[in-house]
Amino acid sequence: MTNTEAVLHALAQQRDGYLSGARLARDLGISRAAVWRGVERLRKEGHLIEGKSKVGYRLISRTPLFDRERLQRALPGWDVHLFDTIDSTNRYAKSLESEKAVVIALAQSAGRGRRGRSFYSPRGGLYLSLRLPLSFALDEAMLLTSMASVAVHRSLLEVAGITCSIKWVNDLYLGGKKLCGILTEGVVALESGQLASVVVGIGINLFTALGEELKETAVSLYESEDDARSLFDVHELVIKIVSHMSTLVAALPDRSYLEYYRAHSLLDGRDVVVHQGEGQWEARVVGIDDDAHLVVEDREGVVHTLTSAEITIRLAR
Ligand code: BTN
Repeated sequence: MTNTEAVLHALAQQRDGYLSGARLARDLGISRAAVWRGVERLRKEGHLIEGKSKVGYRLISRTPLFDRERLQRALPGWDVHLFDTIDSTNRYAKSLESEKAVVIALAQSAGRGRRGRSFYSPRGGLYLSLRLPLSFALDEAMLLTSMASVAVHRSLLEVAGITCSIKWVNDLYLGGKKLCGILTEGVVALESGQLASVVVGIGINLFTALGEELKETAVSLYESEDDARSLFDVHELVIKIVSHMSTLVAALPDRSYLEYYRAHSLLDGRDVVVHQGEGQWEARVVGIDDDAHLVVEDREGVVHTLTSAEITIRLAR
């Protein structure tokens, strides 16, 4: 256990009282400076620690849904960061130095979506970013979004027994409504100007309260936090997502995961409207090719291979 974890552990055991820096140092066998550094680090991770001069420290809250120590134990080799609220887990993951990191928040004040849009991120969602070292070729990095869709799909099935559909390229749908969005962003190394790592950001509506308007297009897994807590274990969901994602990435250049993707694709054989730039046109989806591109046939029978950039697909009514 690191000093920081030891400080958290000690504070968590004594939630209704204060623990002085001297007492913590003595009990843990570390210096008072190390206690102070530990407290500062925990605060940066989103733990709320009250400090009273001449009295000591008290853990007044921590992200109630998650136990960071449990996640860290289950994910050796990953640097786990847990926040109550943050601007964007993707933004934070991109700023880190560690190569492999998992950043989780219970809410985001400036969640980022695809194509420069914002992502509605109130409490009740799981906002998760994985920072992965870029040990694969750039064209393979393009596959990460579709891989993440498969990793989340499998995890939801295994942990919550929920089967959703994958809407090309990066959304998960349940009952025709959006449950999860995924945004992959690259991190450029300043010295070389080359891509150094990739951040895969995943936003899942766990028990998000959706307003009347959003309810038309989006859905949450559970009605309430109590339901979410009693019906499944969110730690297991995170652990599964990270583990499936690691396995898929390690298997590259093997693209056989695309079979799973195709088997759960929402769009196969469906009539869609392709929104591209200012224009839009109708097409029928033929399938997903081996580069995870969407293959469609337009009204004139011309086949098009679409990459995800700047394209939005809507089901035709
Ligand atoms: C989309 O549907 O447009 C993609 C949404 C991706 C949202 C996730 S939530 C966790 C991570 N942090 C962000 O700021 N965005 C991604």
